[in-house]
Amino acid sequence: QTFSIASIPGDGIGGEVVAAGLRVLDTIAKQSEGAVEFDVTEFPWSSEYYLKNGHYIPEGGLEELQKHDAIYFGAVGTADVPDHTSLWGLRLAITQPFDQWANIRPVTFLPGVQSPLRKADDTELDWIVVRENSEGEYAGMGGRNLSGRGPGNEVALQTSLHTEKGCERIIRFAFDLARTREVKKVSSVTKSNAQQYGMVLWDEVFARVAQDYPDVETESVLVDAMSAKFVLHPEQLSVVVASNLHADILSDLGSALAGSLGLAASANLNPDRRFPSMFEPVHGSAPDIAGQGISNPIGAISSAALMLDEFGLHTEADRVRKAIENATGAGILPRDLGGESNTVEMTEAIVTQLEAI
Ligand code: NAI
Ligand code: MG
Repeated sequence: QTFSIASIPGDGIGGEVVAAGLRVLDTIAKQSEGAVEFDVTEFPWSSEYYLKNGHYIPEGGLEELQKHDAIYFGAVGTADVPDHTSLWGLRLAITQPFDQWANIRPVTFLPGVQSPLRKADDTELDWIVVRENSEGEYAGMGGRNLSGRGPGNEVALQTSLHTEKGCERIIRFAFDLARTREVKKVSSVTKSNAQQYGMVLWDEVFARVAQDYPDVETESVLVDAMSAKFVLHPEQLSVVVASNLHADILSDLGSALAGSLGLAASANLNPDRRFPSMFEPVHGSAPDIAGQGISNPIGAISSAALMLDEFGLHTEADRVRKAIENATGAGILPRDLGGESNTVEMTEAIVTQLEAI
């Protein structure tokens, strides 16, 4: 079985972490002795490419991407291009037209990794942030210079869009995911006390959908309280579903609590499977450490594991996750986790573990 992957390394550390993930996939393919193959096509769309050509994605680029089974993305962002230009030019230019409306971001605690949360007697912590990935605060609606009154008086408007269908599909997705987990619980996050339209609609849809899942425990928590809960009572979490902005922030908090932003994986899914899904580490291009070869590849490698899940290769995905645990458990850690290993050394340590499983 051959799976075709479009890889987009992008900017900064994107290239080195994507290379790490592809190295791991290559190992999976070799071990399968021909049963599984990955056919990877690289797309050079980056900020450098944008500065040269005036666009991130050329005409016909999305049609090219659509021919693949999945997209493997590094990161985009550089000092030479405004961040909103690069993010809308490349990342959102894929997630929006490909209707990748479900973004899942597991918060994973690894053996051997110091976490500000974990105490010796802690039960295993493990939860998933489900992010609404198509509307909400990132719908891109609004405008600048609305007052018409000149310098010093500018008015800008940034609107959130919440549709009943959009709320319902992501909330159902969260409930279905919860059913596959040991702890069947969904925590819904809004700020409906202050934002009385869209977030109240979300709360109402959540309450209605919950009736279809009597076997799943539920709670509705305001986003400020949920941030505190992440730190104080993470053992109460299993699936956390939230809007685009809230889940974006909460998932960075989750990965920091697990030890580092460099650990966090994500999948931008089009669950209807009309378009390919996109797999990427949660972190950005990390310009402060770019070019040094010291970035943590675990977020990108775990994202590749989520891609294996999407391909139905669950055993292989679990083996990759086990290999990561074995490597960190053996004390092999990248710099951001207080270790000594550079990107290639960390990747090879994971490959070595994978070969032994
Ligand atoms: P960032 O995630 O790039 O970096 C934040 C901090 O975490 C930095 O100190 C960085 O060195 C560290 N870090 C991140 N990933 C790491 C890894 N794998 N190993 C070790 N350390 C790691 O976020 P920041 O600094 O806010 O943004 C930098 C650029 O990335 C901006 O242009 C931003 O727009 C872009 N960005 C792109 C994203 C994407 O493509 N999906 C997501 C977030 C930011
Ligand atoms: Mg983010």
